[in-house]
Amino acid sequence: MKKRKNIITVAIDSPAAAGAGTQAKLISKNYNLFYLDTGKIYRYIGMLKLQNQKKFSYNLVKYKIDNIKLSYLKNKSLLSNDVALSAAKVAKDKKIRHIVHKFQQKYAYRPPKKYNGSVLDGRDIVTVQLRDAMFKFFITASIKVRARRRYIEYKGLNKKIAYKEVLKSLRIRDKLDKERKYGPLKKTKDSILINTTKLSKKACFKKIKAIMDKKLYN
Ligand code: C5P
Repeated sequence: MKKRKNIITVAIDSPAAAGAGTQAKLISKNYNLFYLDTGKIYRYIGMLKLQNQKKFSYNLVKYKIDNIKLSYLKNKSLLSNDVALSAAKVAKDKKIRHIVHKFQQKYAYRPPKKYNGSVLDGRDIVTVQLRDAMFKFFITASIKVRARRRYIEYKGLNKKIAYKEVLKSLRIRDKLDKERKYGPLKKTKDSILINTTKLSKKACFKKIKAIMDKKLYN
């Protein structure tokens, strides 16, 4: 695949609900970058699995991913806890990761012309998807703060779930995401650690922006 030259590429890895999506959106707006929330693709496949227990196959996944409309990834049904857990289970599969990888590469390296580059967030972005990214971040927060934030999000979406259930689900996903064989979540030495436990969204972005501006404009 031909890569677009001289583009800004930002790779972000993070455990669930650490604030990476919020920061990725702020980065994309500020630097006019195409944003791809890669977790949504696994969530979409997780939902396919829940809906097609018997018919679920690699061919089905490939067909659906090849024909996906990016606007569908904004669908609120992808935000449920059941879908998130199903996503973490299908994400263990090497062949599924390969299908997703191929799909993501074109957005990572050939974002639409109107953008100055791309920003991707997920679990294997620095380690697999955008290994040569211009900026590499690892965004994290304590599990309790992450669970609290996700719980508040669910409340805002009118999803009935107890805080304890959210915490349990994050623990399960953290374990699945860190311990899987293919594309596990880990921080590389060359990525910059941003701990959002005690940072507001604004303070966190200020930190990221300072790092990016220094390299881009100095
Ligand atoms: O980020 P989000 O919580 O939406 O991701 C849902 C699940 O998709 C994660 O728990 C993880 O198992 C999987 N995922 C992944 N690789 C990515 C992004 C998400 O395995 N790059």
